[in-house]
Amino acid sequence: MRLRVTEVGPRDGLQNDPRTFTVEQRVQFIDALSEAGFAEIEAGSFVSPKAVPKMAGSGEVFSRIRRRAGTVYSALVPNERGLDDALAAKVDKVSVFLAASETLSQRNGGASIAQTLARTAPVVVRSHAAGLPVRGYISCVVQCPYEGVIDPAAVSAVAESLLEMGADEIDLGDTIGAAHPDHIERLVGEVVASTGISLDRLTLHLHDTGGRALACAERGVRLGICSFDSSAGGLGGCPYAPGAPGNLATERLLARGEELGWECGVDLAKVRKAVELLQH
Ligand code: HMG
Ligand code: MG
Repeated sequence: MRLRVTEVGPRDGLQNDPRTFTVEQRVQFIDALSEAGFAEIEAGSFVSPKAVPKMAGSGEVFSRIRRRAGTVYSALVPNERGLDDALAAKVDKVSVFLAASETLSQRNGGASIAQTLARTAPVVVRSHAAGLPVRGYISCVVQCPYEGVIDPAAVSAVAESLLEMGADEIDLGDTIGAAHPDHIERLVGEVVASTGISLDRLTLHLHDTGGRALACAERGVRLGICSFDSSAGGLGGCPYAPGAPGNLATERLLARGEELGWECGVDLAKVRKAVELLQH
């Protein structure tokens, strides 16, 4: 099985890290990750620096990284203002983000789900006009820190809207790491059945609060999902979702992949070296 691994450490990892890294340190981290051979690296965020100060300077990060041929460098974009900056920074792919929970939508983006969809639609259209693919994240696909359990039908409704506006890929985010493998199976079944999306357009973005992220990824692979997000060193979290700790660690995903014969095309030793850079 060949997997597409998106390294989200430079974005999801560093956005919530208690340490503050300079642009230069972020660039060195991303350059080291590039050498490991990832299919994709989410290298920054064009959100409000007041909302997420750790992602300030993402434009400069993009202008200074050494881009490896074969790696797609994406960024998080909340609105058209962010898209202007992302286009100027020559991102390869745009990640828009929605939530399946109204409360998280308000806390994370200051808007309801419907308002966020309306704000996102022109971002998708303009990204495509610029020739860029769009990833549509949906947060809190299993549980919300404010609302509790989320109905898979609510996730499907958001996925449907994102697909209607043209998102190329749907990324299901277990933001607070609440999922068990059975939740993932039920969720994927529901989203596929109601939206008709093919499995090759679904990505799993798993946080590891409950220590079950890897088990959930394994179930995802068994269901036929071949795209996963992970974060080097297990860095990460969402600053607006209490209880959202690190993402599934890239090292754990790769090590398990080696055992089970998944082809990820990423050099584990080089990922470890990249993480060491952050320790200085
Ligand atoms: P808002 O306050 O509603 O927006 O924020 P606004 O249009 O009223 O603007 C407010 C201020 O922000 C203004 O500045 C704007 O210029 C500025 P002021 O006049 O006060 O000086 N502004 C911007 N500045 C730079 N870039 C922009 C931008 N837009 C407005 N793009 C907004 C709405 C969405 C912008 C804000 O709430 C925001 O940036 N939120 C960021 C949320 C975020 O990044 N959360 C973490 C990522 S999501 C995540 O981690 C989950 C994920 O990993 C999946 C999972 O785990 O489930 C993806
Ligand atoms: Mg996340």
